Amino acid sequence: MENMRLDKFLSNTTGESRSRIKEILKAGRVKVNSETAKDPSLKIFPDTDSVELDSKAVVYEKFRYYMLNKPAGCVSATKDKLSETVLDFFRGENMDGFFPVGRLDKDSEGLLLITNDGMLAHNLLSPSGHVEKVYFVELDRKLEEDDRIKIENEIDIGDDKPCLPAKVETKENNTALISITEGRFHQVKRMFAAAGYEVKYLKRIAMGSLFLDEKLKPGGYRKLSDEDICPLRKKEQYG
Ligand code: URA
Repeated sequence: MENMRLDKFLSNTTGESRSRIKEILKAGRVKVNSETAKDPSLKIFPDTDSVELDSKAVVYEKFRYYMLNKPAGCVSATKDKLSETVLDFFRGENMDGFFPVGRLDKDSEGLLLITNDGMLAHNLLSPSGHVEKVYFVELDRKLEEDDRIKIENEIDIGDDKPCLPAKVETKENNTALISITEGRFHQVKRMFAAAGYEVKYLKRIAMGSLFLDEKLKPGGYRKLSDEDICPLRKKEQYG
C-alpha cells in the first residue's frame, strides 16, 4: 500500500475529525515506530509502520462495512441537495469514500450495507451474482393465491425481459415476504403493481447471508464483523 498522511490514517482508523487528530498529535499521544510524532502531514506506510495512540497499536482497516437500518425519507446516495442521505446518519465517523451498496427508494426502509469496498459492492450487485434480497411488504389488499403464483413466475413488468423467478410468501394483514435476485428500478413495487397491487410499505430484511438486525432502530447502524462479511465475498478476489 502507498504512503498516507498520518492525520488521514488516524482519522480513518479512529473516526475522529482531522482537527481533533491535530490536537491529539500536538498532545504527544501518538508514536510512529516508537518515536513521538506530532506532524499531521508526516507520511507513513500503513502496512509496515507501527502506529500507537496512547500506547495502543492502531491497525489500519482498508475496508469497513456497516449495516444501516434505513428510515423512510432519506435517499440512498452519498450527496443530495435537498434530502438527507443515508451517510448523514454516520455522525462523527469519517465516511470519506463510503457509499451504499445498491439503493432503497426514499420511502423504503431496512437493510442497507454501507462500505468503501467497491469489489464487494460489485459482487453483490452484479446480475450474475444472483444475491437474494428479501423484502417485507404491506399491500393495499390481501394477496390472492393466483396473483402470488403470477408474481413468482417471471412476471412481466414492462422491461425488455420478464423478471427472474421470485419467492413470495403470503403473511397476515395484507403483508407478504418477497425474495428476488435482481435489482431493477422500483422492482418490488412494479412486480406487485403488474399483478394489480399497491405496495404501501416496503422494508428490506435480508441481502444474501446478511439479515437486518432488529435491534437497530430506524437510522441506527452497526459496524459489521469479518464473520458477517466473509460469506458475502468471493474468496478468490481477496488475498
Ligand atoms: N424494490 C422497490 O420497489 N423499492 C425498493 O426500495 C427496493 C426494491
